[in-house]
Amino acid sequence: MNIILLGPPGAGKGTQARHLVESRGMTQLSTGDMLRDAKDSGTEMGRKVADVMARGELVTDEIVIGLIREKLQTEKSEGFIFDGFPRTLAQADALADLLNETGQDLDAVVEMQVDDEALVQRITARSTCANCGEVYNDLTKPIPEDGKCVKCGGTEFKRRADDNEDSLKQRLMEYYKKTSPLIGYYYAKGELTSVDGLGEIDAVKAEIAKALDS
Ligand code: AP5
Ligand code: MG
Repeated sequence: MNIILLGPPGAGKGTQARHLVESRGMTQLSTGDMLRDAKDSGTEMGRKVADVMARGELVTDEIVIGLIREKLQTEKSEGFIFDGFPRTLAQADALADLLNETGQDLDAVVEMQVDDEALVQRITARSTCANCGEVYNDLTKPIPEDGKCVKCGGTEFKRRADDNEDSLKQRLMEYYKKTSPLIGYYYAKGELTSVDGLGEIDAVKAEIAKALDS
């Protein structure tokens, strides 16, 4: 089963993708994580995208489509979770072509609905484990008092360069201008399911499971 998690910055795409990896053995393909890895490992592409990402703007379609193409052509999986991809209509068309070329289908597009006020709170309070990427939140899912990651025991946590109010404004603008048209696009294709992303993490998890199993 191949699915897209679609939603604004802070909707909970990464959090829910990690649950699906654990519960269903699926593979998370987060273009944001891939770009941050490229930046951290100092590749030429990583250097090129660092400023664009920090400002909260979208990286070119060519770069992100290239990243996804490579994964789909080289990795085998029980199912891919596209997290943060596609984000433009050109990316959506490219994904359809890539799945077609590799003999696969898109089974569902899950839109996670969260209002802007909650997004700001979630993003400005987020941190992640530097070792395994587990996602925390100062308000809703704090780092344990012993300072150890619940998943891997790691003790180092980081915050993202684009998790500040200015970049978030730009990220939201990009979402509404370039990504939200995909909601209508997938609705028209009969592939869209919308879930309430405002509930607690476990409630959202249950809604997504229901959507995928129906
Ligand atoms: P990306 O990394 O994809 O960031 P994003 O879309 O802005 O989304 P986030 O990762 O910020 O949020 P999320 O939905 O994963 O939420 P999370 O689960 O962490 O992209 C970053 C940048 O890379 C882009 O701006 C762009 O520059 C570039 N880029 C990436 N892909 C691209 C593409 N395809 N094309 C062009 N450019 C691209 O949760 C957030 C917080 O909320 C956490 O603290 C979490 O604990 C908490 N939380 C989660 N769920 C709940 C809940 N139900 N209740 C309460 N708190 C919750
Ligand atoms: Mg994410």
